[in-house]
Amino acid sequence: MANKAKTAFFCRNCGFESSKWLGKCPSCNEWNTFTEEVIERPKDAASWKDSKPEKRISGPVQLSEITASDTGRLVTGDLELNRTLGGGIVAGSLVLIGGEPGIGKSTLLLQLALELKQIKVLYVSGEESEQQIKMRADRLKGNNQGLYISTEVAISKLFMQIKQLQPEMVVIDSIQTLVSDFVDATAGSIAQIKECAGQLQRFAKETNVPVFIIGHINKEGYIAGPKILEHMVDTVLQFEGDRNYTHRILRTIKNRFGSTSEIGIYKMEGDGLQQVNNPSELLITEKEEPLSGVAVAATMEGMRPMLIEVQALVSPAVYGNPQRTATGFDLRRLNMLLAVLEKRGGFAYGNKDVFLNIAGGLRVEDPAIDLSIACALLSSLTDMALPLNMCFAAEIGLSGELRGVARIEQRITEAEKLGFDRIYIAKHNMKSLKQNKYNIELRAAGKLEEVYGQLFV
Ligand code: TYD
Ligand code: MG
Repeated sequence: MANKAKTAFFCRNCGFESSKWLGKCPSCNEWNTFTEEVIERPKDAASWKDSKPEKRISGPVQLSEITASDTGRLVTGDLELNRTLGGGIVAGSLVLIGGEPGIGKSTLLLQLALELKQIKVLYVSGEESEQQIKMRADRLKGNNQGLYISTEVAISKLFMQIKQLQPEMVVIDSIQTLVSDFVDATAGSIAQIKECAGQLQRFAKETNVPVFIIGHINKEGYIAGPKILEHMVDTVLQFEGDRNYTHRILRTIKNRFGSTSEIGIYKMEGDGLQQVNNPSELLITEKEEPLSGVAVAATMEGMRPMLIEVQALVSPAVYGNPQRTATGFDLRRLNMLLAVLEKRGGFAYGNKDVFLNIAGGLRVEDPAIDLSIACALLSSLTDMALPLNMCFAAEIGLSGELRGVARIEQRITEAEKLGFDRIYIAKHNMKSLKQNKYNIELRAAGKLEEVYGQLFV
């Protein structure tokens, strides 16, 4: 290769530039922070762009002359994906789907490609052979005449294929397998990822073809190391879930074309991912009789109301230091709630082990879950089960006061829809509500003690 891009090494920590790789940064003294980046591309660097007859000359344009067309969205048959994208696939958008290996990213996008029969789709896989993809497609029971598979990993050759095929959507599985020969680095390195993503970005913007990029998440939870990839794309979706459970969550992390508080829910079955349009039913276990330590929270995940089961186990600490473990919930917040119960209610959790679990491997950040957590903790401590068909939606303050939460009506309606007959909410929320509007009993309380008095004595 005669024409190499000019590169330099930069410290990821402080940005110090060096012409060669260094183990330790002389500026900030951090170790192993140097990565190679392209600083100048060769002038004759061939990319798909050169095949375009004219380059768009961009000068200032009057705002009123720009037409904001929302008609550019392609609405797919996957309601969950549409939702996370903000209402469908936007023309010319670059969408990054990140997730741990084996979570189902390839399945999700192959399924989408199989379903989009109205357009020509190119699915590029550097991860699997054509035969493997065919087998997966058979497993998904899908067939699409307009779907093309390529296993090309050299991006320049890939663009030649694209030029010939003229696909209307491109899927890259995964960005870590692509290589550009402008960069002297191995596939999956930061320099390669950045360069290839940059080329895909220019391609998407100038042709209006949407591009989906799969990116593996490393142990720290970053998409392929470089956060930079997240800045280059329009939308970042994260596919997550506990591999021990069947359901998967597609979470919007960034979206230039919609809200970031959306989630899509799926179930991984033998023949692919099934959309879960009514998640609460999945997250509440069928119970014949009440169990102690269990409480149900009426939470919101983004714009969606969702009833979620909270499980607590409080038992005498056997070895010295009591343990506190929380799955799916912030441990510091659990400690705060325990301190409130201890200080305001005089409950002795200090010498107890406390385990808290949000059912279904879900992670909840909605503060409205507080009251259900406190009630699950009290229920396990007192070994008194809460009646079935009861749920909670209130935040707890440091003095044990119940605080109102957002979108209370949506939470109540969801609980009502699922057959709950009583919901505990904060007094503050009650002001705007009318009991006779609902078929579920609304119980308002100002303090945690009042809830305790009604349920555990
Ligand atoms: P995959 O899409 O290959 O994950 P990723 O691309 O994120 O690495 O999915 C892998 C898992 O999904 C694998 O363990 C098998 C399982 N699976 C099913 O349960 N049902 C299916 O129909 C398919 C295609 C995969
Ligand atoms: Mg895969």
